[in-house]
Amino acid sequence: MSILLRIKRTVYIMRKIPEPGPSMLARKYSVTMNRSSFSPSRKEILRNVVGKDALLCSLNERIDREVMKNAGPKLKVISTLSTGHDHIDIVEAKKRGISVTFTGQVLSEATADLTFALILAISRKIVLADNYIRQKKWKVGWSPELFLGSNVYGKTLGLIGAGRIGRAVARRAKGFGMNILYHNRCRLGKILESEMGARYVDMDTILRESDFLSIHANLNTESSKMINESKLMQMKNTAYLINTSRGQVIDERSLIKALKNKWIAGAALDVFEFEPLKANSPLIRMENVVLLPHIGSATYQVRSKMSEIAAQNIIEILGGRKTPYMVN
Ligand code: DGY
Repeated sequence: MSILLRIKRTVYIMRKIPEPGPSMLARKYSVTMNRSSFSPSRKEILRNVVGKDALLCSLNERIDREVMKNAGPKLKVISTLSTGHDHIDIVEAKKRGISVTFTGQVLSEATADLTFALILAISRKIVLADNYIRQKKWKVGWSPELFLGSNVYGKTLGLIGAGRIGRAVARRAKGFGMNILYHNRCRLGKILESEMGARYVDMDTILRESDFLSIHANLNTESSKMINESKLMQMKNTAYLINTSRGQVIDERSLIKALKNKWIAGAALDVFEFEPLKANSPLIRMENVVLLPHIGSATYQVRSKMSEIAAQNIIEILGGRKTPYMVN
């Protein structure tokens, strides 16, 4: 065997991720792994990518032309530990012959669960009520008007986006006896529609009729800031906006205005225009809002599957094969 063939391929894992991915890669390659759960600085990224065959990144690391150029000609694969890949310059990767892979749809059910948790939390004031007890404010037992919220049962749920997550949310909504509407770039076929138990409507109708409007759209040039001031003004003033997709789909300044002016009743958000959300964001001071730190896929089961897929994607590509999780 020539010396060249015995040189181990090199992989850079940009932040600490759950097993089994790191061990799978360490068995085959020379791995540089950031031991911190935080993203490395841009400077660190640019330094550590040099000469690597593979990068394993997450949605917080911007992988653009500069990063790919710094990595150099050996770079064969960028594997992201996420379903979304809006943080990677796919066109540039293609130009350079670099494969980009993602972790598929393994997070759909967990994200749909979290969407429902948000629907229930915002409408039944669960976070406020929990805090009320912790702050030792509960002085009278059962009370006829304590934390009155809105029904979920019988209400209209509007889904913007009817991919796997949107459809998984619809399945849960059926069990809650909700009336389900959806709007999508393309209307689904009859079978999927009837499985969802949902009616296809145009954007104006979904905005006007939904009691809960839940966003499940990918982030792209079309969907960026899609929920803007004029759309928020069309919603019922009793409606709640839920977002577990990408923060940039909503124009956050307009949302803050809508919440302040009571154009809508509230919002429950797992994602934000800029993450982490700034400590001085007006959203933090609002009571009609539930905020989560981007945890849609955060279950042990899903994150470990994502880790396995992200590592296997690298193994397949460096082995000269394809994977079912190619972006480009
Ligand atoms: C993704 O994978 O795109 C989620 O936003 C985080 O798991």
